Amino acid sequence: MSLHIGSIAPDFTQESTEGPIHFHEWIGNHWAILFSHPKDFTPVCTTELGTVAKLKGEFDKRGVKVIGVSVDDLGAHQRWVGDIHETQGTPVNFPLLADPDRKVATLYDMIHPEANDTLTVRSVFVIDPNKKIRLTLTYPAPIGRNFDEILRTVDALQLADKYSIATPANWKDGQDVIISASITDPKVLKEKFPKGYKELKPYLRTTPQPNR
Ligand code: BEZ
Repeated sequence: MSLHIGSIAPDFTQESTEGPIHFHEWIGNHWAILFSHPKDFTPVCTTELGTVAKLKGEFDKRGVKVIGVSVDDLGAHQRWVGDIHETQGTPVNFPLLADPDRKVATLYDMIHPEANDTLTVRSVFVIDPNKKIRLTLTYPAPIGRNFDEILRTVDALQLADKYSIATPANWKDGQDVIISASITDPKVLKEKFPKGYKELKPYLRTTPQPNR
């Protein structure tokens, strides 16, 4: 079954560097980011995990729990985190799922056989507190991800949920946003967007970021 935006993120129980994880229970009332890396003791993956560890404070600020996964076993993860600490200058401060039986990789369709029939690609699932998949990204093994972009998407999703807005191309936190087309009642517009708005077209209305 393919996973779509809006699908419920499949639940599972799997071993991790922080003990057994019951995924939905572990997410609780938080947002979550589940991301796969192809293989322990490889260079791009080492830099990615160091980058995520350094951004832990940013994920925490947004109420997001992060969790990594690969088809390596727990012993490999436990040995590798030492290398990450040594080379990236940070301890790995989030759990890594050990998935040698490919339970998680299969549930989330992280193995793309045309690329590699045993290792996962670089998948990202942004999951909301209702356990719904809100955003997915897929990168090939040689290309490291931009985790600042992933934080940006979390900012946009959380803002969109709270204020009935959308975000334009290349939007960054603090910039103007787009008012949802469904809001047309002038009274509601005034209540929701007290800073006013610009109407470039009836379907393209921008307003200053509501929470700034
Ligand atoms: C890497 O992390 O550098 C990597 C892992 C698997 C395949 C290619 C690159």
